[in-house]
Amino acid sequence: MTTAPARDTGRAGAGPARVDLLFEPDGRRVRVPAGVTVFDAASWNGIAIDSTCGGHGTCKKCKVRMLDGAAAPSALDIRAYSPGELRDGWRLACRTLAAGDARIEVPPLVTRPKAATVGVGRQVILRPAVQKRYLELAEPSLADQRSDLERVLDALDDLELRADLHAARVVGRVLRAADYQVTAVIADDVLIDVQPGDTTGRIYGIAFDLGTTTVVATLLDLSTGTPAAVASSLNAQQPFGADVITRISATMMDPAALGRLTALAHETLASLAAEVCAAAGADPADVYEIALAGNATMTHIALGIDPEPLGVAPFILAARLLPEVLAADLGVAVHPRARAVVFPPFGAYVGGDITAGLLASGMDRDARVRLFIDIGTNCEIVLGNRDWLLATAAPAGPAFEGAAIRCGMRAADGAIEVVSMTPDGLELQVIGDAEPAGLCGSGLVDAVTGLVRLGLLDSSGRFVPEAGAAGLAPGLAGRLTTLGAERVFVLHWRGDPGDVPASVYLSQRDVRELQFAKAAIATGWRILLEEAGLAARDIQHVLLAGSFGSYLSPGNAIRLGLVPDIPVLRVVSAGNVAGEGAKMALLSVRERAAGLALLEEVRYVELSDRADFNDRFIDQLAFPG
Ligand code: FES
Repeated sequence: MTTAPARDTGRAGAGPARVDLLFEPDGRRVRVPAGVTVFDAASWNGIAIDSTCGGHGTCKKCKVRMLDGAAAPSALDIRAYSPGELRDGWRLACRTLAAGDARIEVPPLVTRPKAATVGVGRQVILRPAVQKRYLELAEPSLADQRSDLERVLDALDDLELRADLHAARVVGRVLRAADYQVTAVIADDVLIDVQPGDTTGRIYGIAFDLGTTTVVATLLDLSTGTPAAVASSLNAQQPFGADVITRISATMMDPAALGRLTALAHETLASLAAEVCAAAGADPADVYEIALAGNATMTHIALGIDPEPLGVAPFILAARLLPEVLAADLGVAVHPRARAVVFPPFGAYVGGDITAGLLASGMDRDARVRLFIDIGTNCEIVLGNRDWLLATAAPAGPAFEGAAIRCGMRAADGAIEVVSMTPDGLELQVIGDAEPAGLCGSGLVDAVTGLVRLGLLDSSGRFVPEAGAAGLAPGLAGRLTTLGAERVFVLHWRGDPGDVPASVYLSQRDVRELQFAKAAIATGWRILLEEAGLAARDIQHVLLAGSFGSYLSPGNAIRLGLVPDIPVLRVVSAGNVAGEGAKMALLSVRERAAGLALLEEVRYVELSDRADFNDRFIDQLAFPG
């Protein structure tokens, strides 16, 4: 095995300074960027430090002892410890920066830090950007003439806060109406609201996975990290076309289309937000942050940014690093000061949904070499581990979504989703227990895999002659027939006996479409392997992402050559990882920062300008023998 490439930081090797921390008594050594808090360094590496506030500096439970390298105590340390304890090196981990190498003693846990399992089985210690604090304040007097706002900010002096205009507008009325018993709402370092009474139990965020076809919203209770409600709907932009190209084209042909598409995206997000809040009995005004993960085109359009540069060579983004966005800018009617965390895209064809998916998969923290494949019309592929990550996009075409397939359809009622074949016959599973009306992507893959396995399709993807079929699969040979000049295999007979056009069948051309799609994907990951100087056997884990990835059986994916031939248990369908990444960004500012840092850590490999792409693609058309 040759050496893997160094992680491309985009700064020619000038990465951030790192420090080594040794946590006692476990003896765990971690390496983290200088300047992160000891609390974050520990929680990021799965080392639990006591806490009930999640690192916000309010519980004073995150006690650690700096065995060497103790910095000057913070103002909060001075309140939390006696002078003797401070001399002995005791500090609050969430207020102590890892400035240099250090040895740190972590006492046994007294309380369990709040954590949530999100992403691909990841444990995330709760530390949302949004927090609420209940305050009981002294009334103003002639001896205490501080302003209303100062009164609130002084009670929060462990945080360095500024107030936004909304908070300044409401604070006076709220303080008086609520007898100076109020809740401060804080987003990062900004006081965004002051509310009457104790509202600390009501604090929510909404994570959106904005897909070209489907949009999913999850309402998260940010005080517990648990999902309170989930809802999904079709993207209301559907009438403009099924894929991103048709929607970009619409904006290029009609100047009014962008506004219309943006409004439809907002409509979809707003109605899902209303639906999840209603389902959980939550007041939308108690949603203080939303997160959105989508491909580059969907993200551009939702923000009202012209997507034209994405659709024409040389395929660039109109905007990569996005300005601060509010939920209101995306048409979502929640708290008026709620911010929106929008996952930025790597490039025109590797979008924010992939940034979010990588975060959820933890690829950037794993020592194993892993392959991440998000299968769709455009297939995004990432290879790497915690030291380096390479990404590319392969044009797989619409076969996996059932389009461009003669009897293809979306995964809806009537679609054949599972096909099990033996030489004696076949069994179908149909969505909605309806009569089969067509074939969706997973059914297509099952059917082709079954036919390859039984020998009815040879490794070049051709149907074998009818005469030979009877010997290979006596119970299926009668289904192998012709429609006009084309060979077809009938999966479900409909209409009169032998009425092929009325039936659900797989044609020779359909098999070719699938071969094109799988060849594009296999070429993509093989080129990434080559760039990394690795072989397929070096891949230790494969993650199949996206809605199609979750229906695809790992065994079939290997059999077709869509993924490397590694033990089947190491190929995992990961489901909606983009939505999971969006949830993680709401639950933990650390995870959010790690997600944004990915932008600098992934090196993009362009396939379209490679002279050898076509030859490599043709090599990958055959099914493995
Ligand atoms: S984690 Fe609560 S004060 Fe440090």
